Amino acid sequence: MSNPSRLKVLTVFGTRPEAIKMAPVVNALAKYPDEFDSKVCVTAQHRQMLDQVLDLFRIKPDYDLNLMRPNQTLFEITTDVLMGMKTVLEKEQPDVVLVHGDTTTTMATSLAAFYMKIPVGHVEAGLRTWDKYYPFPEEINRVVTDGIAELYFAPTEGSKENLLRTGAKPEQIILTGNTVIDALFYTLHKPDRNGHLPITLDDAKRLILVTVHRRENFGEPMLEICRALKELVEKNPDVEMVIPVHMNPNVRETVYGILGGLPRVHLIDPLDYEPFCRLMERANIILTDSGGIQEEAPSLSKPVLVLRDETERPEAVHMGTVKLIGPHYDKIMAETNLLLNNPDAYQAMAKAANPYGDGHASERIVQALRDFKAKKGPVAAASTR
Ligand code: UD1
Ligand code: UDP
Repeated sequence: MSNPSRLKVLTVFGTRPEAIKMAPVVNALAKYPDEFDSKVCVTAQHRQMLDQVLDLFRIKPDYDLNLMRPNQTLFEITTDVLMGMKTVLEKEQPDVVLVHGDTTTTMATSLAAFYMKIPVGHVEAGLRTWDKYYPFPEEINRVVTDGIAELYFAPTEGSKENLLRTGAKPEQIILTGNTVIDALFYTLHKPDRNGHLPITLDDAKRLILVTVHRRENFGEPMLEICRALKELVEKNPDVEMVIPVHMNPNVRETVYGILGGLPRVHLIDPLDYEPFCRLMERANIILTDSGGIQEEAPSLSKPVLVLRDETERPEAVHMGTVKLIGPHYDKIMAETNLLLNNPDAYQAMAKAANPYGDGHASERIVQALRDFKAKKGPVAAASTR
């Protein structure tokens, strides 16, 4: 039922990591149906990897644009999201649109909302490497989104400072922590949690968990990463490696081409979030170019070697649990072997550190939306357009 005193919130996301990080917000909003008319639109920039998360958090989208195409280009996703969101926004006329992070869904949805003069709330705002091509195209996606947003949900003090540096007003920024920690704690503490590992592993062997998917690592950098992984397993007979291989065909071709069929290397399809968390807990070392995993693993006391030269998430690097090693063969070999062979070096990194939140970020976002509504009054939509 439409109730003019409720704030109409449209939450939009499209990929796996956005879904993991927005699910706690959607579920927090759903607790207050008298205050919020909350709807969810998925662009389905990802399909299977998105649906895995919707199932876990029991979210049934109100709109599903079903946009994913095999090996889609940035031009295709951008225009498809922009045009798809035009239709949804015209129909829904929300008071505020919530987007997350730095994907093309995020950027193009923000642009669509801007064209309709609908305020945007940016969850995980303010992350920066200050290098427009790293990561590509994410750095510019978040710059565009932050240029448009009216409300900034900054996960850390550092991201808040970045926003102030780029002209956001202090009253627009709400320091929330990262909703990824809400999702992680929810998943780790679910009463019906499945404690089984998703694959059979040898208890006597150490586990290296690997994920790779960044566009700037396609081609030669990913070949170099895979050659190093191959060598690492071959030279360390007490090591097993699990790689849930991203569905992107550019990733699959390279990873299966070099690592397919090797003993003690398990190439598997992307895992549901719950079993993936279980695997992170079992891992001794994590190698990744993922953003979200850099935020989750330190809470689990796991050393993370990041297969990138730059990160927009410097907090865990400063705390010493995450190290940037780039997609470089020599560095991957040296740093992984150091962790495998030097217990002091391992212990120095494997300490619990969580600069990314206390698991209550989504409640702070809900409170900020309440405050936004109180400031704008019941005719928020009309007054801002
Ligand atoms: C996207 C985001 C990236 C984010 C990543 C998370 C952009 C430009 N990139 O990158 O910021 O870190 O998601 O994983 O927004 N595919 C499937 N099934 C799926 C998902 C993907 O088959 O469920 C395949 C399709 O062929 C698709 C391709 O992967 O065309 C690439 O997907 P896309 O979202 O364009 O790029 P990602 O590399 O996944
Ligand atoms: N993840 C997952 N299953 C997997 C691999 C990763 O659920 O097989 C989760 C991971 O825990 C993290 C998120 O997916 O929360 C990260 O997604 P991805 O690395 O694709 O994107 P990024 O964070 O780099 O944008």
